[in-house]
Amino acid sequence: MEQASKNNLSTKTHAVVTGGNKGIGFEICKQLASKGITVVLTSRDEKKGLEAVDKIRSDHDNDITFHQLDVTDPSSIASLALFIKTQFGKLDILVNNAGISGIILDYNALAKASEAAGGGWPAGKHVDWSKMAIRSYELEEACLKTNYYGTKRTTEALLPLLCLSQSANIVNVSSLLGLLQNIESERVEAVFGCDDVEEITMEKMDNLINEFLRDCKEDKLEANGWPRSAYQLSKAAMNAYTRILAKQYTSICVNSVSPGFVKTDINGGLASLTAAEGAEFAVRLALLPSGSPSGCFFKKLEQTCF
Ligand SMILES: NC(=O)c1ccc[n+]([C@@H]2O[C@H](COP(=O)([O-])OP(=O)(O)OC[C@H]3O[C@@H](n4cnc5c(N)ncnc54)[C@H](OP(=O)(O)O)[C@@H]3O)[C@@H](O)[C@H]2O)c1
Repeated sequence: MEQASKNNLSTKTHAVVTGGNKGIGFEICKQLASKGITVVLTSRDEKKGLEAVDKIRSDHDNDITFHQLDVTDPSSIASLALFIKTQFGKLDILVNNAGISGIILDYNALAKASEAAGGGWPAGKHVDWSKMAIRSYELEEACLKTNYYGTKRTTEALLPLLCLSQSANIVNVSSLLGLLQNIESERVEAVFGCDDVEEITMEKMDNLINEFLRDCKEDKLEANGWPRSAYQLSKAAMNAYTRILAKQYTSICVNSVSPGFVKTDINGGLASLTAAEGAEFAVRLALLPSGSPSGCFFKKLEQTCF
């Protein structure tokens, strides 16, 4: 029955990219469109999204369209899912790229400190960026709501359409900062680090995030052995979600990718790779044929441990 309905669907490949108006997301849209894929560039701001679509269209006669999407707004997510269903009937590629840092950094101070330490940021081993940042409970909470819960809600809404594809890929744009080896927090490791993915439940993840936010509100993050930022926890949660999805949806390739250290607004442009270079890795994963590795973390193109 499912196969019969799959066979009646368009043979074109359709992709949704979140946070497509700038940075890595914009370049992912551009590269996918240049490969003949029908791309839905989404952006929370309609004007910025439409301008981005125009820019890509003026380069080539690409099949690209815009739809508004704020990944923190359930009604916006539902509206996108309805649009994909009525326009295309199925979805082949979802790139969860939208993200925020959850802090306001003094990039000038950071650049000077990084230079003095001989590099080292963003892995955070040599430069204590937290001393150059404005932080607040509201910013940290927004970070988790966008990077992890936004990804999860958007994915859940689009999963029924991805299940109708002959070869579906979900790419979660993550970060090396979310790797357990870089977080060095036993309480995060205890929940996300389980070898058996069945032991990582959504309930345990929600509880961990709520405890983090409670300690954040009470300024007890360092005392209680948490990662240094909500950003790290959000990307670790995203990675655990990648593993859970891959286990539950064996017909879909679901992977996390670190794009490298890419020059965009999220890091004040203090990076080495161009957005186009960073996008390349996510695009390669988005185009994996069915039966390819799933539930993995890729550091650029190299598979590594969560
Ligand atoms: N740059 C790096 O070195 C690096 C390294 C590792 C991972 N990453 C990840 O790469 C992804 C893209 O980041 P970037 O470097 O390209 O940064 P960026 O230029 O700041 O782009 C972030 C994108 O996310 C969008 N966004 C933020 N909140 C959103 C929401 N609630 N709903 C929908 N879209 C939202 C932004 O839209 P607005 O324009 O409206 O704000 C923007 O389009 C992020 O997930 C980031 O964590 C980046």
